[in-house]
Amino acid sequence: MSSLQERIEALKTQALASLPKLSDESALNDFRVSILGKKGQLTEILKGMKDLSNEERPIIGALANDFRDKITDLIEEKKQELESSKLNAELAHETLDVTLPGNMHHKGTRHILTQTEEEIEEIFLGMGYEIVDGYEVETDHYNFERMNLPKDHPARDMQDTFYITEDTLLRTHTSPMQARSMDAHDFSKGGLRMIAPGRVYRRDTDDATHSHQFHQIEGLVVDKNITMADLKGTLDLVMKKMFGQDRKLRWRPSYFPFTEPSVEVDISCFKCGGAGCNVCKHTGWIEILGAGMVHPNVLEMSGLDSKVYSGFAFGMGQERIAMLRYGINDIRGFYQGDLRFLKQFA
Ligand code: PHE
Repeated sequence: MSSLQERIEALKTQALASLPKLSDESALNDFRVSILGKKGQLTEILKGMKDLSNEERPIIGALANDFRDKITDLIEEKKQELESSKLNAELAHETLDVTLPGNMHHKGTRHILTQTEEEIEEIFLGMGYEIVDGYEVETDHYNFERMNLPKDHPARDMQDTFYITEDTLLRTHTSPMQARSMDAHDFSKGGLRMIAPGRVYRRDTDDATHSHQFHQIEGLVVDKNITMADLKGTLDLVMKKMFGQDRKLRWRPSYFPFTEPSVEVDISCFKCGGAGCNVCKHTGWIEILGAGMVHPNVLEMSGLDSKVYSGFAFGMGQERIAMLRYGINDIRGFYQGDLRFLKQFA
């Protein structure tokens, strides 16, 4: 029995015993190098081959090859086993518990008044109106005088407000934008069609239907040959777009210092259809806006010849429109920022 054969057998026994104990890939790699590498144990043993007899050499050669093949296969097998147990460990670690509650992302919404305003703006933009911004802090001149409400005019009492100085105040309506728009408009290039949305203020006691601040949308059309028929046609179209095609409009004579004639417009109740219910206070009608033909004095104060130019104007309350459309029964909901209220209009 050659001593090389014994050494190979010994190496085999030792290798087969230690291989199963290897627990990671780098240990396995060290193991492979220590046997099969250039300076490995098998390589060392085989260096003794040159001293063997011709009879012994093929026997030992076959034995060495057998061992090399076997240990190479076993190392490969072990490598796969280590890789798959590593993968299994990772998978176990990364398990997804689909029953865990998710992370909720709260999505904001536009305020219902903003939505209402934008919807109305959209309708008027489609009819070629421009949208103008106004000033919440206004002068007595534009808020009252230019609206044909001179000092001591009794109709001022209905629109008392917050004064900053004797001549500077929080505007009581969006109507001053009528005068400002006419002042700014170049009538040699054609007529004026505008709406002016915004916040207004009045000295008022807050309750379910009143607030010391609220929002209006003013409308004004001034051109040659504008008649009340244009006002009726325009408002008819807008109200039907907003409240439904089968709404009827009712026009009642009214009074505003800056329009003549003046009207208040009611729509047939969209809840009961006119039969009478709690929304329309059993009248079948809901008051929706004030309007009229622009008073000649208002035109003249903007430097327009009231014999040549005429116009119509209207003013509607944004809160009122939203309250009617969505059945909101307390105006204070608009201003309190309570998410339970706001989220209903997402
Ligand atoms: N400014 C009036 C108000 O606030 C509404 C209105 C506007 C009436 C334009 C007629 C024309 O009550």
